[in-house]
Amino acid sequence: MTEEHHLETAEQLEAFGQTLPARFGRGTVILLVGEMGAGKTTLTRGIARGLNSSAEVTSPTYNLVHEYPTPEGKLVHVDAYRLERPQKLWRMGLDEFLDTARLIVIEWGLELRGDLEKPVVVFISSLKKGRLLKLEQD
Ligand SMILES: Nc1ncnc2c1ncn2[C@@H]1O[C@H](COP(=O)(O)OP(=O)(O)OP(=O)(O)O)[C@@H](O)[C@H]1O
Ligand SMILES: [Mg+2]
Repeated sequence: MTEEHHLETAEQLEAFGQTLPARFGRGTVILLVGEMGAGKTTLTRGIARGLNSSAEVTSPTYNLVHEYPTPEGKLVHVDAYRLERPQKLWRMGLDEFLDTARLIVIEWGLELRGDLEKPVVVFISSLKKGRLLKLEQD
């Protein structure tokens, strides 16, 4: 599966994120790839909305991992930017998240792609106006 979407504003990007949970089952990992400021956290905020969470989704740079309870189960949001390698997440409970979370969203975690079962990978790039999203699922 590969698809492309052009989202002109942050609001549209968030609204697109809101549509994602219905498409992916329990325990799916969504890897978000893109430069700083691309919109990874904005997309995650939409995903939280799609799970009917009213939590304020912020960048987890300092905590690395945020867990948001939602009516469907927890949303785990990881920012691996500060990790030398995202593989370190295996020693930080990633296995348990795969078993217990509704969705796991990881920023800066592309290197985990080969270790995961059917991850969704979202590449976000900046256009003159807005963002281009490419969605792939292995
Ligand atoms: N079309 C757009 N889609 C998404 N964000 C946009 C768009 N246009 C402007 N923005 C702005 O770009 C910024 C995206 O920030 P965000 O924190 O989501 O990025 P990020 O990829 O998570 O960055 P980081 O790698 O630093 O965590 C926001 O300030 C947002 O308002
Ligand atoms: Mg971010």
